[in-house]
Amino acid sequence: MQCTDIHDRYLFRLITKKAFLYTEMVTTGAIIHGKCFNQLNFNNEIEHPVAIQLGGSDPNDLSECAKICEELGYDEINLNVGCPSERVQKGSFGACLMEDPKLVDDCIQAMQQVVSIPITVKCRIGINERDDIDFLNHFVSKIFNPNLKTLIVHARVAILKGLTPRQNRQIPPLKYENVYQLVDEFPDLEIILNGGIKDIDESIKHLKKVHGVMLGRSPYDNPMIVSNVDSKIFNESDIGNDRKAILKQYLDYCIDQAHEGQPYSRTLKHVFGLNRGLKNAKSFRSLILRTIQEKNLEITKDELISMV
Ligand SMILES: Cc1cc2nc3c(=O)[nH]c(=O)nc-3n(C[C@H](O)[C@H](O)[C@H](O)COP(=O)(O)O)c2cc1C
Repeated sequence: MQCTDIHDRYLFRLITKKAFLYTEMVTTGAIIHGKCFNQLNFNNEIEHPVAIQLGGSDPNDLSECAKICEELGYDEINLNVGCPSERVQKGSFGACLMEDPKLVDDCIQAMQQVVSIPITVKCRIGINERDDIDFLNHFVSKIFNPNLKTLIVHARVAILKGLTPRQNRQIPPLKYENVYQLVDEFPDLEIILNGGIKDIDESIKHLKKVHGVMLGRSPYDNPMIVSNVDSKIFNESDIGNDRKAILKQYLDYCIDQAHEGQPYSRTLKHVFGLNRGLKNAKSFRSLILRTIQEKNLEITKDELISMV
């Protein structure tokens, strides 16, 4: 949430054409009560393939939202069964749903009945003290059906009480083996591994054991690490090796968006990491911050481009 929004996905489509992009989680309540503002918007011309992630646990609400998302043109609907936040638990969705696989199954089937795009699930390896393989196998066996194509697993348990969402992405240890073993256990399911993967070389190692990988923080913090995804993973030519050209295109986009009312605080924050590792990373960040405050990208644009 607050990261992989429509602007961030625009930036990533300047860097890779093949990587599958996911939206931030949008709750069924927000969609049904019309409070998701622009969160459902995506750029139909450039963003595909793109999945929307839904948060919810009411099969009727989810099927209503799934229909809306399919009509909008999303390629996949992903159900969030991994978010540990207390707010989300209060709404009875996210990671706490791992305790109720029957309900998850009902949710999946309700959506599958009304749309033809794939319904996928993103879960953890378990919750609280249940980080054992039996718990995960039991959960997956209960939600599996022949139309469930893909399962994305964050290879940590979610601790539902006492840890913040941030701590829940850091403290529980990564248990990749639990995810690897799903490949043999459920041969008809595409298993995507998530959690702590730093770059494409590390991804390639995991891809010997699972069908796919999902990366969150590492590309968000350093978008250029996916500039060779298209060649290294998909055997196609790369599109986004030229950092300056990417930044120029993205800053032009930010200026256009500003004219349409999108504040620079929304658009420019996604480029903080674009010169990560370069010697002037700190001054680049400061200039972006100043630009956000002073709303003067037209003036600072060339200097920013010269810094990457
Ligand atoms: C700020 C932030 C927001 C996140 N929001 C979501 C979300 O909306 N839905 C989701 O499934 N995961 C969300 N995550 C978790 C990531 O998708 C991912 O599962 C987790 O960070 C582990 O992968 P990583 O080590 O590659 O980042 C979020 C992570 C961060 C850091």
